Amino acid sequence: MSARLPHLTSIRDLDAAAAERILDLAREFFEVSRRPIRKAPSLQGKTIVNLFYEASTRTRTSFELAGKRLGADVVNVSASSSSTTKGETLSDTVANLDAMHADVIVLRHPASGAAHHVATRGRARAAVVNAGDGMHEHPTQALLDAFTLRAAKGTLAGLTVAICGDIAHSRVARSNALLLPLLGARVRLAGPRTLLPHRADALGAEVFDRLEPALAGADVVMMLRIQQERLSGAALPSLREYAREFGLNSSRLALAKADALVLHPGPINRGVELSDELADGPRSAILDQVEAGVAVRMAVLHLCAAGAETPGAR
Ligand code: NCD
Repeated sequence: MSARLPHLTSIRDLDAAAAERILDLAREFFEVSRRPIRKAPSLQGKTIVNLFYEASTRTRTSFELAGKRLGADVVNVSASSSSTTKGETLSDTVANLDAMHADVIVLRHPASGAAHHVATRGRARAAVVNAGDGMHEHPTQALLDAFTLRAAKGTLAGLTVAICGDIAHSRVARSNALLLPLLGARVRLAGPRTLLPHRADALGAEVFDRLEPALAGADVVMMLRIQQERLSGAALPSLREYAREFGLNSSRLALAKADALVLHPGPINRGVELSDELADGPRSAILDQVEAGVAVRMAVLHLCAAGAETPGAR
């Protein structure tokens, strides 16, 4: 398969052709994951380290399954049980994993720019994949969202995608605002004024401080959780008030197109940004996103590690 991906720290690492290449390859791996024997061992003999400094269910599990379905050896390191608790720096931790010949380091870290730092200024020879860096980016999430939309709608070209909620603290919103337009979609960002980034318009999206105008005629509505852990001060009067103004329910969804899809990267705060009825209803593509996540991460890991170096060459 095609050219190697040296790192994936940001959607800015990709042009439209590179993004399409990942999505096309993910399509093949998606089929593999639906077979009775879910293996496509292109990464046999390769080592992938998942280095997670923040909580994760979907992302960590799907990177692990992705690596294992490709036949790689996968090791999970979580910061709470690593030498980070003894004062080791991120760069030193990465240098140590690198000395063990990791081919890919998948990094989730609370600091924006952590993956880029490790990829460019660290000492790692391994490819670095950003699994979420603070409030900055989460490129594989945007790719799995694009995969889900392409599968459901055929193409992203001409789609209007409303991303709603805590935009300011959301790496998912940022990565999607960069990727979806690259693939031909229009992005709207909506949230309370206190949860919109200062220069939201610089992302090239239409920005709304109310939900309704953002939903009008949308093909896709992506709801986001309030990132309580990143909120400083009183950005919100109360969750109940937030739910009343910005929660998605059936009557609000009726403003969007009749066949509009509901997306959410998870974890959902039910009854806050999304009603149970919609989360579990026929318009929800939320578990399709999760299924796509494994395939997309297989594609990214494959492109980062396959043929990167021949065994024993370094
Ligand atoms: C998101 C994350 O961690 O950035 N979740 C995910 O990766 N699926 C969004 C969130 O935490 O709200």
